[in-house]
Amino acid sequence: MVQNPVDSRSRRATYARAAVVAAGIGIASLLHFLTPESLILWHNIFQRLYYLPIVYAAACFGWRGGLIAALSSAILYIPHILISWHHMPEYAMNQYAEIIIFFLVGTITGVLADRERKQREKLEATTEQLSKVNRELQDSFEQLKRADRLSAIGHLSASLAHEIRNPLASIEGATGILDQPDISEEMRKEFLEVIRKESRRLNRLLSDLLDFARPRKPEFQPVDPAKLIDSVISLVAPTVERNGITLTRRVEPSSPFVRSDPEQLKQVILNLTINAAQAMPGPGEIELAVSAADGNVKISVKDQGSGIPEEDLDKIFDPFFTTKENGTGLGLSVAHQIVTQHGGTIVAQRNPDRGMTFSVVLPAYEARSAQAL
Ligand SMILES: Nc1ncnc2c1ncn2[C@@H]1O[C@H](COP(=O)(O)OP(=O)(O)OP(=O)(O)O)[C@@H](O)[C@H]1O
Ligand SMILES: [Mg+2]
Repeated sequence: MVQNPVDSRSRRATYARAAVVAAGIGIASLLHFLTPESLILWHNIFQRLYYLPIVYAAACFGWRGGLIAALSSAILYIPHILISWHHMPEYAMNQYAEIIIFFLVGTITGVLADRERKQREKLEATTEQLSKVNRELQDSFEQLKRADRLSAIGHLSASLAHEIRNPLASIEGATGILDQPDISEEMRKEFLEVIRKESRRLNRLLSDLLDFARPRKPEFQPVDPAKLIDSVISLVAPTVERNGITLTRRVEPSSPFVRSDPEQLKQVILNLTINAAQAMPGPGEIELAVSAADGNVKISVKDQGSGIPEEDLDKIFDPFFTTKENGTGLGLSVAHQIVTQHGGTIVAQRNPDRGMTFSVVLPAYEARSAQAL
C-alpha cells in the first residue's frame, strides 16, 4: 500500500511529541531519584518540572494526553514519595496533593486545547468552503462572460448582415435599372447617385466597424478639455449654424487636464455633438461643458432635441442600434469603447425639460501646468 507522505509526516511529528513528553517526565523523575533528600528545595523545583510535559501533552493531544501525562508523572513520582518521604508524612501529603493538581492541570489544559483545536478546524473548514464557493462563483462568472460574448457576436453578425444587405440591394437594383438600354440621362444620373451614396454608406459602416472591432490603443497625453471642446465647436459650428443651432461652451475656471488620447477623445465628443445636432429638428442650443469633481473631469454635451425614450436608454450603446435612416448605430458604441479604454465612464441622461445630456467622466491629469494639446 502506498503511504501518503502527509500522513507519515504527521505520524512522525506525533511520535516526536510523545517522546518529548516521555523524556520530560523521565528527566523530572530521574532528578528526584538522583538528588539527595537533604536538598529539599531542589525537590520542590523538580516536582514542578512535571507541569511542563503535562501541559505540553495536553496542548498536543488534548485532555486524554494531559491525563495520561499526569498519570505517568504520578506513577513515577509516587514511589519516590513512598521511598524518600515516608518519615515526613506531612510533606508526603503535600506531594500527593500536588499530584491531584497534576491531574487537574492536565485535564483542564487538555479540554481548553481541544476546544481551541475544534474551533480552528471549524474555521479552516469554513475557509475551505468559502474558497470553494468563491471558485465556483468565479467559474460561473467566466461561463456567463463567455456566453455573453458569444451572444454579442451572434447579435453583431446578424445586425451587420442586415446593415450590409440593405445598401447592397439598393446598388443591385440601381445597376439593374442602369443596364436597360432606353434609360434617360436624368435617370442614369439619379441611379448613379444612388450607387455612390450607398457605396459611401458601406464604406462608412466598414470604417466605423473597424474602429469598433479593432480599436487603436490610446496614446495617452495630458489634454486640456477646454481646448478640445473648442476644436469640436469650430468643426461642427459652420454646418449646424445653418439650421439655427448655436453651440455654447461653459468651462469651469481652472478645470484640470485629462489623461487621454486627444484624437480619440475628440472623436467621442464629436460623435456626441453630431448626435445632439441630429436630434434637433429646429433651432436651439447645444451646450458643451467642462467641470471638475473628486479628481475627475466631466465633459458633457447637452441638447434640446427629441430625447431618447426611457425604454431605448439601455440600448443606445449597443452596436448597430440606430433610429436614423442613414445611421450605422456605431457612433455611441465606439464612444463607449474609447471612454472605457480611458478608464472613464459615459452616461446618457434625459433632461428635465427636453433633450439629452451625454456626460463623459475621465480621471483628471494631475499636472495642470503640463503641455496642453
Ligand atoms: N443626443 C441624442 N438625442 C436623441 N437621440 C440620440 C442622441 N444620441 C443618440 N441618440 C439615439 O441613439 C442612437 C444611436 O446613436 P449612435 O451615435 O450610436 O448611432 P447613430 O447616430 O444612429 O449612427 P451614426 O453615429 O453611425 O451616424 C441614435 O440612432 C439615436 O436614436
Ligand atoms: Mg451617431
